Amino acid sequence: MVVLLVVATPFSWAADQLPHIVILATGGTIAGSAASNTQTTGYKAGALGIETLLSAVPELKAIARVDGEQISNIGSENMTSDVLLKLSNRVNELLARSDVDGVVITHGTDTLDESPYFLNLTVKSEKPVVFTAAMRPATSMSADGPMNLYNAVLVAADKSSWGRGVMVELNDRIGSARFTTKSNASSLDTFKAVEEGYLGTIVGGKIYFETRVDKIHTTRSVFDVTGLKSLPAVDIIFGYQDDPEYMYDAAIQHKVKGIVYAGMGAGSVSKRSDAGIRKAQAKDIVVVRSSRTGSGVVPPDSNQPGLVSNSLNPAKSRILLMLALTKTDNPEIIQQYFNTY
Ligand code: SIN
Repeated sequence: MVVLLVVATPFSWAADQLPHIVILATGGTIAGSAASNTQTTGYKAGALGIETLLSAVPELKAIARVDGEQISNIGSENMTSDVLLKLSNRVNELLARSDVDGVVITHGTDTLDESPYFLNLTVKSEKPVVFTAAMRPATSMSADGPMNLYNAVLVAADKSSWGRGVMVELNDRIGSARFTTKSNASSLDTFKAVEEGYLGTIVGGKIYFETRVDKIHTTRSVFDVTGLKSLPAVDIIFGYQDDPEYMYDAAIQHKVKGIVYAGMGAGSVSKRSDAGIRKAQAKDIVVVRSSRTGSGVVPPDSNQPGLVSNSLNPAKSRILLMLALTKTDNPEIIQQYFNTY
């Protein structure tokens, strides 16, 4: 279902000068509804439509001309490659239009390290794409969604946001999709990039950008999902004491094209996983070793099997490996992608 909505402005001549931002809603807690305004757990995520989200922030009409579209209305744990492909294609269509200046995407926080990174690699535009979300449902006292949405539109509408790759805006911070991840299951101040920090902050309605990312994104990315109906299957297998080899047998049986190993420390592989990884590689499955620690680099190590994820966490590694496999199954080229994206 697509809902189109224009936030009315009293002075159309002035509104014509404002940047045109399209908000794509996908669900999450920012669209969550609870039985009371003190209930912040056990509520339904993805319950409210884009019209309700926009009507909570009439202040938007002072900073942008805003249209809203409903892409999905789900908890982000139910986000799938199908929705990601639809989202990326829609963003590319919108940003190709000369009358659209930027896109904001509302999303659940739980997989807000994955979807922004997917778009960071597949959007072909310098125009801003800003994800936002909330930790408290829209019905809660001191809901964080409305201010996050306002700030995300502020960033999307600003010329200084162009060419920075896909961004994630919550809690007055602007993060890069390449690095940012949820770091705390329940706190509002949860989106962080432990090593790299933020691209910038918003203070008093003003944007303060501090840095840019070197990693390849958007217009320089080789990945193009136009016309793609599905993505190659990639599983994540978690490394831990006593981790069993049969996880690899299951992945092989399900004919996955790639496996990301969420290894211990700098991607250390147990004897059992070592055997599983080598078995998978013998079936031409591409395996990438990543780290379950939450930050740091997994360096190449000729004593351990598989490619290495650089500083991508396991969930982001899976996104890159799916896209890499749309282009090649050559391990050297795929390792080069992991070194540079
Ligand atoms: C979700 O990820 O959809 C639910 C949790 C949240 O948005 O905070």
